[in-house]
Amino acid sequence: MTEKLEDIARAMVAPGKGILAADESSGTIKKRFDKINLASTEDSRRDYREMLFRSTDAMKNYVSGVILYDETIRQKAKDGTPLVEIMKAAGSIPGIKVDTGAKPLAGPTSKIETVTEGLDGLRERLAEYHALGARFAKWRGVITIADGLPSWNCIKANAHGLARYAALCQEAGIVPIVEPEVLMDGAHCTHDIDECYRVTEWTLRTVFRELYDARVSLEGMILKPNMIVAGQKCAKQPSAAEVAEKTVRVLKSTVPSTVPGIAFLSGGQSDEMATEHLSLMNAIGGLPWALTFSYGRALQAAALQAWGGKSENVAAGQRAFTHRAKMNSLAALGKWDAKQEKAA
Ligand code: 13P
Repeated sequence: MTEKLEDIARAMVAPGKGILAADESSGTIKKRFDKINLASTEDSRRDYREMLFRSTDAMKNYVSGVILYDETIRQKAKDGTPLVEIMKAAGSIPGIKVDTGAKPLAGPTSKIETVTEGLDGLRERLAEYHALGARFAKWRGVITIADGLPSWNCIKANAHGLARYAALCQEAGIVPIVEPEVLMDGAHCTHDIDECYRVTEWTLRTVFRELYDARVSLEGMILKPNMIVAGQKCAKQPSAAEVAEKTVRVLKSTVPSTVPGIAFLSGGQSDEMATEHLSLMNAIGGLPWALTFSYGRALQAAALQAWGGKSENVAAGQRAFTHRAKMNSLAALGKWDAKQEKAA
């Protein structure tokens, strides 16, 4: 495996490849398992993730890297092989979530706004994760749209945390995925696509300013933003073409062209919408960075359903996962269309 930050970053966004976000914390994976009536235990979490990582076709051809949770990077498959070795054998790069979660931001907006924590001891944790095989990391800052929010205090605090995290990663030989997520699940009635645009532009400008101040090498990082969409409860929903056009526009006006790649989160979009939006953006063409996926839910939801926690359904789960990975690979090339979705 190559060790230069720029080479790792480019490999993460290689043509037609994207990232599998499988870094659900124990609390989040429990919520996902609840939906299929499966108890979340160390073994059930391992079985589920082992199923994904042993989907050889998907891992070889469509997935460049996997974001893991602390438990998973240390876990062994049922036959004793470390899960990290299984993904490496398929040519996929191990990554690790290193933030310790979004905590209430002290002050007048603490009931709504959060700041992501995890800087304490991060230098030492990164050294350990590097030894365990991680070559990239992720840290997610969360920005909420609500009445009169986000506050500048929230954007600034999260951007500053992201920059300090990114600098520590690069010092450790680990590519930082810088993830400032403007949530789409706001209930506020004025949370339309233009409000998402305005807040995302403000957030991204602030993040790149903090990255500059922290002397983060843009060539050795990946940006993981939200797309420009309307709030889920907004009555006025944009067309897929409008989402693609506005997302590309905000990125062109805020993200320097030296950043090698942008890998989107899915954020609660349906599987197909997340794929369609990505494909339309790539079809616009003439972009200075690679645009690809780093999806959690939009890559896993169908696989989780098909598997249902039953060993006899492993092959069905793998087929569902491979299908979504393939559709998103096509989208990363701007070549997806609804017919391929149906044909499969
Ligand atoms: P979703 O694609 O489900 O939003 O997850 C991506 C992720 O890593 C969130 O931090």
